[in-house]
Amino acid sequence: MSVQDHCRAIHRVGIVVGMVAFFCMALISVAQSQHANSFQHPTLRAGAPLPTGEGDFFGKGTQPGALTDPIFTFGNCASCHGVFDAQTAFLPGRWLGSLHSHAARDPIFLAAVTIAEQDAPGAGQFCFRCHAPRAWLAGRVTPPNNTNGANFFASDWNEGVGCNFCHRTVDPVYVPGQSPADDEAILDALSLNPGGSLVPTSPGNAQYVVDPLDIRRGPEAYTSPAPPHAWRESPYHESALMCAQCHDVSNPMTMLQLDGSYAPAVDGLPHPTGDKFDMFPEQRTFSEWANSEYATTGVDTLGRFGGNNPVVSSCQDCHMPAVTSVACTLFGFPEHTNLPYHSFQGANRFVVDLMLELYQVSVGAIPGLDFDQTIALQDAIPDIDLMLANATDIELSQFGSELKVRVINQCGHKLLTGYPEGRRIWVNVEFLDSVGGIIEERGAYDFATAILTEDTKVYETIHGVDSVMSAASGQPVGEGFHLAFNNQILQDNRIPPRGFTNAAFAAVQAEPVGYSYADGQYWDDSRFCIPAGTVSSRVRLYYQTSSREYIEFLRDTNVTDARGTNLYNTWDTVGRAAPFAMDDAIAPVSAFIAGDATGDGFVSLADLQVLLFNFGSMTNVGVAQGDVNCDGVVDLNDLQILLFHFGQSA
Ligand code: HEC
Ligand code: HEC
Ligand code: HEC
Ligand code: HEC
Ligand code: HEC
Repeated sequence: MSVQDHCRAIHRVGIVVGMVAFFCMALISVAQSQHANSFQHPTLRAGAPLPTGEGDFFGKGTQPGALTDPIFTFGNCASCHGVFDAQTAFLPGRWLGSLHSHAARDPIFLAAVTIAEQDAPGAGQFCFRCHAPRAWLAGRVTPPNNTNGANFFASDWNEGVGCNFCHRTVDPVYVPGQSPADDEAILDALSLNPGGSLVPTSPGNAQYVVDPLDIRRGPEAYTSPAPPHAWRESPYHESALMCAQCHDVSNPMTMLQLDGSYAPAVDGLPHPTGDKFDMFPEQRTFSEWANSEYATTGVDTLGRFGGNNPVVSSCQDCHMPAVTSVACTLFGFPEHTNLPYHSFQGANRFVVDLMLELYQVSVGAIPGLDFDQTIALQDAIPDIDLMLANATDIELSQFGSELKVRVINQCGHKLLTGYPEGRRIWVNVEFLDSVGGIIEERGAYDFATAILTEDTKVYETIHGVDSVMSAASGQPVGEGFHLAFNNQILQDNRIPPRGFTNAAFAAVQAEPVGYSYADGQYWDDSRFCIPAGTVSSRVRLYYQTSSREYIEFLRDTNVTDARGTNLYNTWDTVGRAAPFAMDDAIAPVSAFIAGDATGDGFVSLADLQVLLFNFGSMTNVGVAQGDVNCDGVVDLNDLQILLFHFGQSA
């Protein structure tokens, strides 16, 4: 239950309970100002695009046009690395069904780029740097007219984040004796750039360094037999830093101020510092991980994420678990016991459904899916489902008339990490009678309309604009989906990973907002009052990639092209981003009596004492002693219930 709900409950009583109510009024006004402007009708769009220039999207690293050898497409690797063998789970060919492969054609992404381009002309230069590095490096994402894919080759749409790109990235920190020797010259050349060094200083925001020559880096050192192409042993590829290049995202059009806010920094010039921590944090997956127990000591997951290594640490350990197979289908190459499974399985199963439907044929210049891509995407679905099932555990417990649902985060980052807009996880509870009929449901979701009843715990992060950005952009203050404008986090109650501390997360702009987690807490509790007549409760934890509100936003705000409408129509056809049950558990409910604050089965003086002792206190964690109606505060309503049942037993 949210803070606002607690406060409203207090409000209803009409009795001001001293300081608590005062505190609540302050919270209500904050909450109201945050929720005042949620979604906008397109005609209300004040329409001020930010006055952006090319420099606003500049980032360090290898620049467009600087490569000697082009980035080759996956077709050049497939014959030996098994890309067409989509059915064989253990070959790198699984990449073809991953979102890396489809990062450029992803229809949600493309619809969002159009909005970003409307809001900040040229923003595509930033977006495609991560979502289509091959096209970007080749200079096919150029202002003013080609920043939204107009100049792409068909192969750019097919490639996304591809084999030859990842395997040519260079660790920007040269470690003598460890890094490939060639790296030193590559980095020296970048540092001597006449306009200032191009060597990235903090990993993230697509500031990648790429070998100008086609020398393929990977985890192995070969003697004989060796690959029939240039290769280098690169410890970087076994490190999470390799993923950090794109999995920490900051808005380069913003600059951190002394008061902690992020002001627009749009003047056509490069960002004043170029440091991701001086910009508004859109995604912090790498930084969340870097401040978790996974990064420091590793965690024995007892094989939860598959692969040969039960102790996991890096992103690769969970998202590319080590399996036993050959790396190459050529004769004579041995089996490896640590072959990274290249499926990059994540959480986004909705976009797979979308692409299988939308790209049965080509859409404008974007090629439709061929046979291998189709099979690979279909094969990815069970992988994603397994990932989602392994991401969490839930524990149900009963205390008197109260059901407690504990959600435990088993991921290497927040539960729900990465992309913020429209993604959410919620707790659905059904209280069942003796024949399985539903007495009451919390967090009900209507699969036909895609509307969620928000009378439950919803895990999400909500971004929006503050008054300064509002003045610059014409967007009203408050929550919204305009990625290019958003410069304020209004809420973030996503569950931290093992090893969480408030200080470390605050230092990387990833602290909880509008919610609190204690240091070390990687779970969250929700409390629900069990209605009379309940014999069992069924609890599901639902993951949803994109809310209805977000898909409608992408359609209604688009005044440029058909991407938003195409997306909406396909969403409508494929089940409207149906949520996936990550967990599903049923627990029997034992006899209880309302008003039993001590949970001993009787309503007696002991309960009255507990209630009076805690009178006026608020809580949203654990069992609130005395809060017998589970509304988060111990107040007169609870006293009434207790007195009504006084002397009774369960
Ligand atoms: C997002 C980046 C990324 C993409 C895309 C990618 N790889 Fe990899 N690949 C890696 C990383 C990281 C490793 C090493 C992981 C580890 O050892 O923990 C790796 C390992 C490998 C290896 C070495 C296997 C071994 O241990 O012998 C080969 C071969 C390989 N990749 C080929 C490919 C091919 C072919 C493709 C395209 C179908 C591809 N990769 C796409 C990141 C990527
Ligand atoms: C003619 C066959 C062939 C082609 C084509 C091919 N490779 Fe390889 N590659 C190999 C073999 C063989 C190995 C070593 C396999 C092993 O580890 O057992 C290898 C190893 C690798 C490694 C591991 C390097 C290391 O040091 O860990 C990477 C990375 C790699 N290839 C990337 C690619 C990429 C990217 C492409 C396409 C652009 C590609 N290869 C195309 C045969 C090929
Ligand atoms: C301990 C295992 C583990 C580690 C380590 C880990 N992840 Fe994840 N990751 C998961 C699981 C499970 C999910 C699916 C549940 C979810 O969405 O949070 C996931 C989801 C994701 C998603 C989808 C975002 C979302 O929530 O919708 C991305 C992107 C991602 N991980 C990237 C990374 C990167 C990058 C790293 C390293 C910096 C990393 N992960 C480390 C287990 C892990
Ligand atoms: C060049 C940038 C880049 C690099 C490097 C990169 N990624 Fe990604 N990754 C992306 C983009 C972009 C997407 C999202 C594609 C989409 O949804 O449109 C993505 C998606 C993912 C997803 C799926 C998320 C979901 O919602 O299901 C996972 C998991 C993931 N990456 C893991 C990794 C890991 C692990 C590494 C390092 C080995 C890595 N990535 C390196 C850009 C990158
Ligand atoms: C620094 C790298 C980076 C840049 C730059 C970037 N993205 Fe992404 N984007 C990612 C990653 C990584 C993911 C996947 C995260 C996840 O799944 O949680 C992603 C996911 C998305 C998604 C979700 C797709 C889906 O299927 O749900 C959208 C939409 C998106 N990005 C839009 C944009 C837009 C618009 C821009 C430019 C304004 C942009 N991105 C720039 C890295 C980047």
